[in-house]
Amino acid sequence: MNKIEQTFDEVLRERHAVRHYQKDHAISQKELQEIIQLAQTAPSAWNLHHWRVIVIQDPAQKRAILPIAYNQQQVVDASVVFVVLGDLEANKSADAVHRPLVDAGLMSEKAYQKALQDIDNAYQAPLSIRRESAFLNASLFAMQLMLALKSRGYDSVPMGGFQADQLIEELRIPERYIPIMMIAAGIATAPAYKTIRFPIEDIVIHESF
Ligand SMILES: Cc1cc2nc3c(=O)[nH]c(=O)nc-3n(C[C@H](O)[C@H](O)[C@H](O)COP(=O)(O)O)c2cc1C
Repeated sequence: MNKIEQTFDEVLRERHAVRHYQKDHAISQKELQEIIQLAQTAPSAWNLHHWRVIVIQDPAQKRAILPIAYNQQQVVDASVVFVVLGDLEANKSADAVHRPLVDAGLMSEKAYQKALQDIDNAYQAPLSIRRESAFLNASLFAMQLMLALKSRGYDSVPMGGFQADQLIEELRIPERYIPIMMIAAGIATAPAYKTIRFPIEDIVIHESF
């Protein structure tokens, strides 16, 4: 499917959680790569890219994860299911993201050493804190993924309804990573359920409570 001319506001307004998909439709590898690359523009703390994504297109693999996702039909009907993972050891990426900047003369050696030190200190934190960081940062990637899909004409549904332990086992997810969200995506065959949003007066607090 080609990029559809939509404004950014329209992409935001028209993205909704779609649960019904055209079966047997495939998204090309090229397009998937473009979509994932767009999602990759998400920000992350210290630019550590706390996300990984498992891309599931094989029907047999979708059937294997169906019961793990409480038999939510979109898992098998959608063109693709993304399993967004968070990195519990994102400090291990520090060198890879910062060293090229030093080599390119864009970051001083001193600033680089300090960044590495700060990151290492932060990652001495207990698992609960590293988990929080994985969820926070990988969720930004997940949101961008859904918007990139929408801008290409694909609908999606974010899913927290799955049994994480079973998913880890089925997909052989290493201990370093934690499942954050599943996202099923493809061509909608029925619109999303109608949803509302609170008026902004209900959610905005000016200056302080
Ligand atoms: C973290 C998260 C988990 C969700 N889990 C599921 C899910 O397991 N199954 C599902 O059908 N929808 C799921 N949803 C979709 C929400 O129900 C939906 O986004 C919300 O009702 C607002 O509807 P809209 O996105 O269509 O505007 C989830 C959404 C989020 C953000």
